[in-house]
Amino acid sequence: MKDFYEWGSGLGRKVSEVNSRLLEAIQSDQEDLFSMSRYTIEAGGKRFRPLLTILAYQISTDADYRNILDLAAGYELIHTASLLHDDIIDKAATRRGRPTLNSIYGIDNAIVVGDYLFAKAYELGSRYGPAVSKIMADASSRLAEGQILEAVNLGNIDLKEETYLQIISNKTAKFFEACALGATVASGAPVEVRESLKNFSYNLGMAFQVTDDILDVIGDPNKMGKPVFTDLKHSAITIPFIHALANVKPREREEFIRLMEDPADQDNDKRIKEIIVTSGSLDYSFSIAKSFTETALNSIKGTRRTPDLDLLIELAMMVVQRIQEI
Ligand code: IPE
Ligand code: IPE
Ligand code: MG
Ligand code: MG
Repeated sequence: MKDFYEWGSGLGRKVSEVNSRLLEAIQSDQEDLFSMSRYTIEAGGKRFRPLLTILAYQISTDADYRNILDLAAGYELIHTASLLHDDIIDKAATRRGRPTLNSIYGIDNAIVVGDYLFAKAYELGSRYGPAVSKIMADASSRLAEGQILEAVNLGNIDLKEETYLQIISNKTAKFFEACALGATVASGAPVEVRESLKNFSYNLGMAFQVTDDILDVIGDPNKMGKPVFTDLKHSAITIPFIHALANVKPREREEFIRLMEDPADQDNDKRIKEIIVTSGSLDYSFSIAKSFTETALNSIKGTRRTPDLDLLIELAMMVVQRIQEI
């Protein structure tokens, strides 16, 4: 991702501008709150959602992209807040290459900092009027629905692929969709442009989460800046597991379920990976991610070709490329 931001595309500069807005937005006279929020923001991250917001805006209008920086920063704040809360739920020790906020300042503080970032996000979103505010609020509601649907299905080895897709649709794809929708409503883009960018972002969000779930099994924690096997450790059943459970032979399935019960054991992890590869579940999961990316790219086929559209296409290609780089 880093190379992408350093291209001559100017995206690196835009990310820096988003970062400045983020720091401005989280200012507080309460110094501890400010320093905990700053710790979280300065850890970085791919800034995928603000970039999506900015590119969707630029594709849909000739107006200055600086107009949309507050909205882009607002989306990043919601995303970051959700990660603070998610790390508490997942009991994760690292995030964005640093110890998680909950592991340094405790769960209680991490909850409050998350709440604070949500509040600041809505303040930024409100600058774009009620329609955009509603899009932002709806995206947060969907995210909560997705997280709860995931929570009530923890440890459910009979989880259907359909329910899994519903979980990731709500917790991730609807949020990606909201980035493009908020930006195109703010720009006053024609309905066709809005719809195509909205569909693009939704499908890219699906591909993004499927990829993240694959990387949770086969990824390199150093490259990702977060631990692997966290989904299984907190009993979240994702696509590679759903496929393997449904496709391995009965005896291997029994072994697989036993291994899944103790993901803290490194030997188990190794064997789990092996089964996921030999059962074709890795390839299957990858094909699902690729197919969402293709749908995303097809959604913008009719959109006017501009350098910003090319960047958006490049961004989409990078989502699945993350797996090939492992
Ligand atoms: C992590 O999102 C949560 C998912 C939806 C998979 P990112 O992978 O975008 O995390 P950062 O922002 O780069 O840290
Ligand atoms: C949850 O997804 C992130 C949200 C959408 C809130 P994950 O649990 O897969 O995210 P990571 O892997 O911890 O980044
Ligand atoms: Mg998590
Ligand atoms: Mg994950």
